[in-house]
Formats: sequence, C-alpha cells, structure tokens
Amino acid sequence: MGSYCTRCHSTTKSGADRYSAPDDANFDSLDGIRQQAEHIEHTTASGPTGTFDFMPPRLPTIAGQPTLQERERLGQWLACGLK
Ligand code: HEC
Repeated sequence: MGSYCTRCHSTTKSGADRYSAPDDANFDSLDGIRQQAEHIEHTTASGPTGTFDFMPPRLPTIAGQPTLQERERLGQWLACGLK
C-alpha cells in the first residue's frame, strides 16, 4: 500500500495531490483498508475471483505497477482479513 497506493489514497493528501482519488478511500491505516477491502480486491488484487489491474492508474507521471506476485499476495492478505 505504501509503495503504490498512498501517494493518492492517503488522509495526508488533499486536493490535486490526490489525483482525484475518492475522499473516502484512504489506505494509510489498516482501518481505511478494511473499509475498502472488497473494492481493493476488485481493483487491484489477484485471487480466486480474478486478477484486477484497474489500480494503480497508468499515469505517465506516476511510475510503478505492482507485479503479479504482489497482486497475489495482496489478494491473500485481504482474504485472510488483513493478517
Ligand atoms: C495516481 C493516483 C492513484 C494511485 C497511485 C492509486 N489510486 Fe486508486 N484511485 C485513484 C482514482 C483517481 C480513483 C477513482 C477512479 C474512478 O472512479 O474511476 C481511485 C479509485 C480506487 C478505488 C475505488 C474506491 C471506491 O470508493 O470505490 C480503490 C479500491 C482504489 N482506488 C485502490 C487503489 C489501490 C489498492 C492502489 C495501490 C495499489 C491505488 N488505488 C493507487 C487514484 C489512485
């Protein structure tokens, strides 16, 4: 999350710094992640329901996409209730 997501999805960011990320989607805390866990699964993770790569956005100014392995680990982490 810290490597790929919180540059937009963070309570410490506002306005243009969020690149229009929704105000209620903040992943700088476990609580924030828990509230959005299902959305995260269906935008970013790889697991039983498929592989999703809608997030992070492919912006020329924002480098870096998680690897498939990282998406799989995210899927497992979400499936295990963030443990
Ligand atoms: C460059 C900024 C940026 C980065 C980096 C980014 N996002 Fe997003 N995110 C957005 C924007 C903008 C939207 C709204 C997209 C839309 O509605 O089409 C969004 C929407 C979402 C949503 C849907 C939220 C909702 O309320 O439905 C989720 C979940 C999400 N992002 C997860 C992630 C995850 C997980 C990462 C890291 C792997 C990530 N994002 C990285 C900008 C970003």
